[in-house]
Amino acid sequence: MSRSSVLRTLAIATAMVVALAVVPQTAVAEDGVPSPSPSISPAATPTALPTPTPAPTATAPTPSVYGYFTLPWVTGAVYQSWTDGTVRSLSRAQWQKTGASSRVAPIRYVKAAWSSSRYALVTFPHRADDRAVDRVVTLTTAQYASAGKPRVTTVAEVPTSTYFRYASSGSDRYVRTPDGKGHKLTAREYAAAGKPAAKTVYGGYYRLKWSKSVSFVAPDGSRRALSSAQYKNAGSPRVAVAPTVYVKTRWSGPYALVTWPHKKNDSAVDQVVRLSSAQYTAAGSPRLALRPRIPGDSFVRLDVGRQIFHRFRGYLTPVTATQWRAAGSPRVTTVAPATPTYIRGILIVNKSLPLPSTFGNGLRPELTSAFAKMKAAARKAGVPLRIISGFRSYASQKSVYAAKVRQYGFATAQLRSARPGHSEHQSGLAIDVNSISQSWGDTAAGKWVARNAHTYGFIVRYPRGKTGVTGYAYEPWHLRYVGVEVASHLYAKKLTLEEYLGVPSVY
Ligand code: DAL
Ligand code: ZN
Repeated sequence: MSRSSVLRTLAIATAMVVALAVVPQTAVAEDGVPSPSPSISPAATPTALPTPTPAPTATAPTPSVYGYFTLPWVTGAVYQSWTDGTVRSLSRAQWQKTGASSRVAPIRYVKAAWSSSRYALVTFPHRADDRAVDRVVTLTTAQYASAGKPRVTTVAEVPTSTYFRYASSGSDRYVRTPDGKGHKLTAREYAAAGKPAAKTVYGGYYRLKWSKSVSFVAPDGSRRALSSAQYKNAGSPRVAVAPTVYVKTRWSGPYALVTWPHKKNDSAVDQVVRLSSAQYTAAGSPRLALRPRIPGDSFVRLDVGRQIFHRFRGYLTPVTATQWRAAGSPRVTTVAPATPTYIRGILIVNKSLPLPSTFGNGLRPELTSAFAKMKAAARKAGVPLRIISGFRSYASQKSVYAAKVRQYGFATAQLRSARPGHSEHQSGLAIDVNSISQSWGDTAAGKWVARNAHTYGFIVRYPRGKTGVTGYAYEPWHLRYVGVEVASHLYAKKLTLEEYLGVPSVY
């Protein structure tokens, strides 16, 4: 059968497919190529087909019945073929009334090389030597069996297939066969199919600039991440970087405003990502546009303290009154701080902000490895360091605190020991080193720690002269791990964690 004869009959064949065949289109075909859009599966009830009106020419012969045909897998219907090419589905009773004989319609059984689906290409002849395909049926296993398991030819093109390309993927071409399965064509397959025109479908395969993982964006805007197996299964299509605007505020950033395009000239922000410095670097350190607000942000106060925070998702950043005004003086709602509380991504534990009693299970690995480095450097400098108290559970802090109250009395104990739930030792991010004695701060080791701990990510958490801020007396031995960047900033600016994060420390 020639390609042009297929095209001649395409209109009628398509109408019949819609009327008679069940077209299973799932969100993702089993071949891994997602369907561009959900489709409605029409009922497979045999009904009278629309009869095209023949062109009204003076010489047009009056149509007559050409013959009666059956399909091996259809028991309830006989197809009445007319000389003008129309086909009517009759019930067996209707056919029997005609007294005419019937025969099985000429059928070719085909499949595509890349799919296990079998298709029956049915001709309902309406003149001698008619070979035009009138109907394409995707056979179920049962239908194939009732046809007698005929030999199936692999073809380069299954009639009524459609061809498309994704806006994301340049020259990648796809075919969708009548059963709704999508397949990325190889160059050879596309050539064998006769290089048909491919309609552009918006959406497709996209990734974030700083990430390798691929998402499929459907034309309805829905999006799903593909595992590497799913991506490979989809034919390893070309992937475009999702259009992204990089922004910052006066107090925070960078943020990426990402568009997952699903229509022509789509520029809607679909996702906002707060970029880590590693992600920002991986994105190529793009220039950041200054913005007063970030989509999805808000301003809050915690019900401890008066500080205003910019909140983006769970991430809190303290802002000055000037910064808040520059953002348009947005409404500030007071919220209960989450427990545990993170501000600027830092876990804050103090008299105002406790930990749940169940929190913590040992020293954090980032502290342990930083301490090992610091200890090695201190040894080289001639000052041995050792941890004398590390992780303390809620229960062990309870007895430590009770002992301090017995030893010093209530008022002094408040300056020296945290109530259970309020100790940084429960966070796994604090250690006491060498000696619980303020005079240790004046020893060589104490001085070395005060001057160098920040380069390993530690701060002296309760410095001299900051009792009014931290709520505790000077503790040269108590070190808190916050990472090198923050520790160096606090060291240079002589700031406590309370000052940096904008929170009080009072019971
Ligand atoms: N000594 C500090 C404040 C604590 O008990 O955690
Ligand atoms: Zn301590």
